[in-house]
Amino acid sequence: MSSSVSPKIPQHVAIIMDGNGRWAQQRGLPRIEGHRRGVETVRTITDAGREIGLHTLTLYAFSVENWNRPQDEVGALMGLLEYYLKKELNTFIKNRIRLRTIGRTQDLPAGVQKHLNHTIEATREFTDYTLVLALNYGARTEIIDATRAYAAAVAAGKAKLNDDAWATFSRYLYTADLPDPDLIIRTSGETRLSNFLLMQGAYAELVFTPVFWPDFSKADLLAAVEEYGKRERRYGLTSAQLKNPTPSAP
Ligand code: FPP
Repeated sequence: MSSSVSPKIPQHVAIIMDGNGRWAQQRGLPRIEGHRRGVETVRTITDAGREIGLHTLTLYAFSVENWNRPQDEVGALMGLLEYYLKKELNTFIKNRIRLRTIGRTQDLPAGVQKHLNHTIEATREFTDYTLVLALNYGARTEIIDATRAYAAAVAAGKAKLNDDAWATFSRYLYTADLPDPDLIIRTSGETRLSNFLLMQGAYAELVFTPVFWPDFSKADLLAAVEEYGKRERRYGLTSAQLKNPTPSAP
């Protein structure tokens, strides 16, 4: 990082990769060409995240709502995902990147699941840097899945219904063993969270950039991290409390 960039590095950055379609349309290209270029950006930003010292990078690659896109686009996205997983396996191993997923991956095509499982298994020992792909992910379906799992644990006598600690319930989310995102970035100028990490992002800093995902660069990531470094995360406290903590402050 350049010396002008704040040394406050977020542990976990999550990105809503948006604008592939518009990037392609602006160039008179089919939408899928935007997704293809988007895969190149996934590679660039995965490397950049490791270089700047992130612990976790989560990328919103396919939402539960994305199944409603035209069938040829859905098919092309699944094909790209499979191609990406096959091509990146050696890089994940060489660069010691652990792959994880969040979402209902059991509903993805069998070929994608096979490569996902293989890559997850082959990289599970790496601890320094984790790439999380959100696939068939939606925060609302995640809450439904977590609530079902929690209810099953209560029924089996493994959890207590009157335990209202977030630390207990959050163990049933897809992200059970991952830190909450410190910074959520959305590209393409849209300023919504679109059903992405709604619970885990409760205290995340949000950065929106007009850059379309295929054009998003390491410099853009650094700019977002620098912006994060300027923010004061108060977690419900006052600024004065943060500067002069008392024993009652967490
Ligand atoms: C949003 O752009 C992007 C997506 C819905 C898919 C993101 C997928 C990739 C970057 C490629 C596959 C991913 C991996 C990890 C291999 P959009 O199509 O909604 O753009 P628009 O809003 O301009 O139409």
